[in-house]
Amino acid sequence: MKTFKIAVIPGDGIGPEVISEGIKILNKIAEVDGTFQFEFTEFPWGCEYYTKHGIMMDDDGMDKLKKFDAVYLGAVGYPGVPDYISLWDLLLKIRKGFDQYVNIRPIRLLEAAPCPLKDIDCEDVNMLFIRENSEGEYAGAGDWLFKGKENEVVLQNGVFSRKGTERIIRYAFEVARKEGKTLTSISKANALNYSMVFWDQVFEEISKEYPDVKTASYLVDAAAMLMIKDPKRFEVVVTSNLFGDILTDLGAAIAGGIGLAAGANINPERQYPSMFEPIHGSAPDIAGKNIANPLAAIWSASQILDFLGYEKYGKMVLDSVEQLLIEGQVLTPDMNGVSSTSEVGDRLTSIMTALFESKNLVF
Ligand code: NAD
Ligand code: IPM
Ligand code: MN
Repeated sequence: MKTFKIAVIPGDGIGPEVISEGIKILNKIAEVDGTFQFEFTEFPWGCEYYTKHGIMMDDDGMDKLKKFDAVYLGAVGYPGVPDYISLWDLLLKIRKGFDQYVNIRPIRLLEAAPCPLKDIDCEDVNMLFIRENSEGEYAGAGDWLFKGKENEVVLQNGVFSRKGTERIIRYAFEVARKEGKTLTSISKANALNYSMVFWDQVFEEISKEYPDVKTASYLVDAAAMLMIKDPKRFEVVVTSNLFGDILTDLGAAIAGGIGLAAGANINPERQYPSMFEPIHGSAPDIAGKNIANPLAAIWSASQILDFLGYEKYGKMVLDSVEQLLIEGQVLTPDMNGVSSTSEVGDRLTSIMTALFESKNLVF
């Protein structure tokens, strides 16, 4: 039987609560399919680990992770450990160390998902964000000069290499071509007079290789406004690391809430494992209460299935989530429900099992 080895980093706050529901779903799929199985190996890394051991992950942690087919991560960061330590020594270390330069974040409104916009159809919110995930504003380069003095100056440099910019834009063009969709670039060359001028230039250059792909380009401030006013104009979107981070939280809000939004950190060359995670954080305000919405983590589990070549199962997970929303009976408080995290996972498992049986699916 084929075995997929998945490294699990539940992480901090609600991370462990939501990840266990995703694992439930993956195990169920493997069980019903019967031709493959998952082998999950859990790593206890995170802020609690830091408090005990002074490190966010083991020194040979990256070597340990290298052996896996994928990494499934909950959330990192918790009060008590500075975010710049916890994130840079674990989440960002993995994204960068494994050259996961593509961050795929679907912003898609499922039927019956709570949308704060008026008169909106599901088809109007269906964007695929392709966020640059390895450099840009997250290069980690800068300086802190004359600390505490009157002339104190802090520099935070963005780094946009030709290689890094070309590869993410080319990747996005390939996706847009494959899906027959418009590719929108979001930048800010009016104010960022080096990085974004360069970004726009590279986008223009690469667009010549894809004459069949329709393109659009917006400044990030206008794009934020248009995502609310007229979301349907966005299909495939390519943007820089920081803009992609911010706009996908905005997108999550219009596509049912942060508890529903997932992201895949992909190393397309498959030299290193890719990593799958909900886009939300550790939510310290609701951690430990078994009320976190597990649907984002479950959506990222569906991305694992897609990535491993089981797209039909990935779709089935999303169909089940949609059915759960339509039923509207078993939802967490962020979706105006009264159910717990584990009750949502359990209900989803039974919806999925019924879907399997009703369709008598054979893959
Ligand atoms: P957050 O996403 O953790 O929480 C923002 C708000 O959304 C909170 O009110 C929270 O209760 C709610 N929320 C988030 N996920 C939810 C879910 N699944 N169900 C229901 N409600 C949910 O963002 P934050 O508060 O800005 O950050 C908290 C910590 O998480 C910080 O340390 C931050 O750096 C970190 N963080 C980590 C990641 C990651 O690991 N990928 C992502 C974002 C933030
Ligand atoms: C995300 C998070 C991270 C990011 C943080 C925690 C470093 O906000 O995955 O969206 O900015 O990429
Ligand atoms: Mn974010």
